[in-house]
Amino acid sequence: MNKFIQDLPKAELHLHIEGTLEPEMMFELAQRNNIDLPYKSVSEVKEAYNFEDLQSFLDIYYQGSQVLQQEQDFYDLTWAYLQKANRQNVRHTEIFFDPQSHTDRGIEFTTVYQGIYRALQDGKTQLGISSQLILSFLRHLSAEQAFATLEQALAYRDTIVAVGLDSAEQNNPPSKFKEVFDKAQAEGFLTVAHAGEEGPPEYIWEAINLLNVSRIDHGVRSLEDPKLLDYLVDRQVPLTVCPLSNVELKVFDSMTEHNLKQLLDLGICATVNSDDPAYFGGYIAENYQAAQAALDLSKQELYQLAKNSFQASFLPSESKHRLISELDDYLETAKL
Ligand code: ADE
Ligand code: ZN
Repeated sequence: MNKFIQDLPKAELHLHIEGTLEPEMMFELAQRNNIDLPYKSVSEVKEAYNFEDLQSFLDIYYQGSQVLQQEQDFYDLTWAYLQKANRQNVRHTEIFFDPQSHTDRGIEFTTVYQGIYRALQDGKTQLGISSQLILSFLRHLSAEQAFATLEQALAYRDTIVAVGLDSAEQNNPPSKFKEVFDKAQAEGFLTVAHAGEEGPPEYIWEAINLLNVSRIDHGVRSLEDPKLLDYLVDRQVPLTVCPLSNVELKVFDSMTEHNLKQLLDLGICATVNSDDPAYFGGYIAENYQAAQAALDLSKQELYQLAKNSFQASFLPSESKHRLISELDDYLETAKL
């Protein structure tokens, strides 16, 4: 089954590029940029990755991001991710970046953007992986700060497909960002938001009704609200689920408790993604594998998850059809 999963053509729709910073690269970049790390070794870093909840992860994640300083650092980070994604047959990826966690430290928006974007272009030409960029606002910061970040993004409007909302969910409801999301949509950006990861189902409703999102990131707490489930099924609003992240951040006590299979059984357009793979113990294939093993997912269900990932992407419909027929061919051959 692991080989089937590894080679399954798939899209990744929920991946924070800063969350792909492996401890080894953290040390390399710290040295390159003359930064002191609060860790002595790679194994000490890994020991620190023992999270109680979302906030305890975010503290370490933002600290790690500080080694990213130059355009080349952002390039190297993104290129390393793309090579891993390529080995797991990711055919298309939609990548979040958190500009505020860099601009707040004095790094120019352009430095961040150019490094990531250049690597994504190389991913297309050298690896055949298509990609889109999603600018994510940090919801623990103010709406005014999000507006300022949106202003900086306007120069890159043509290559940033959507805006999103991440960071500490509790007490930072989507409604806090309604105006900035309105402005982003007026400028032509699509919208997504993290909702129902730690926060209640009402935050998912707000993301839908106030932010007009095309997808919900996480959304696993939708299972607590039958009306919301009906809505998500009727409209086929996709959920970008991140199984290893949810277990590492104690959204579920263990993978066997994860509700991914229930969501699929209900007819929700659920997808599997890696969120912050360097911090949560695995990239997209490991996420599929962990969920498959714990929830006993069949090949048909794995196929459905991969199909959902293409369907839920922001690709034009011709590209979606092409990738889904590649997936169909794969399933046919895998059955032989
Ligand atoms: N930023 C990076 N990963 C995140 C997550 N899982 N939830 C909220 N914000 C994040
Ligand atoms: Zn996330």
